[in-house]
Amino acid sequence: MHVHKLEKVWLAIGFITLVAFLTTVGIQAFASGQGAPSGLTKVDPENVEETPPFDDPGLHQIGENEYELVMILQSYGFTPNEVTIPEGATVHFKITSKDVVHGFEIAGTTVNMMATPGHVNETTYTFDEAGSFLILCNEYCGTGHHLMSAELEVE
Ligand code: CUA
Repeated sequence: MHVHKLEKVWLAIGFITLVAFLTTVGIQAFASGQGAPSGLTKVDPENVEETPPFDDPGLHQIGENEYELVMILQSYGFTPNEVTIPEGATVHFKITSKDVVHGFEIAGTTVNMMATPGHVNETTYTFDEAGSFLILCNEYCGTGHHLMSAELEVE
């Protein structure tokens, strides 16, 4: 079979480019540890309530006006579903889902992440102003999706 010379050249360019991309992605993911961050901390979705920190969900003070907020998401609710924090507090959220993928959005803030079963999803936010914040599931998760919310009071 005759393959045109230019065709060979382009095949070679395609192959070299593919190897270069895969090498770059591989080095980033494995050697430099820049893989998807949500995959770093795992939790058995069947035993969430027995596994720290989810065996003690809620707000825990870890510093001067610094807190860890542990929340479990499931169809169709948040545990706990009412939290009060002091104004100016920095909150480290640690969340997971017991069943399907849920969303975790705090309306009026930049907090917006997914809660994926098997993973601990984390983010940090400082609440500089007092007020009532609505925590919403923004990932369609079933018939009760629109009912899935929690409240965060900053005072
Ligand atoms: Cu949970 Cu939508």
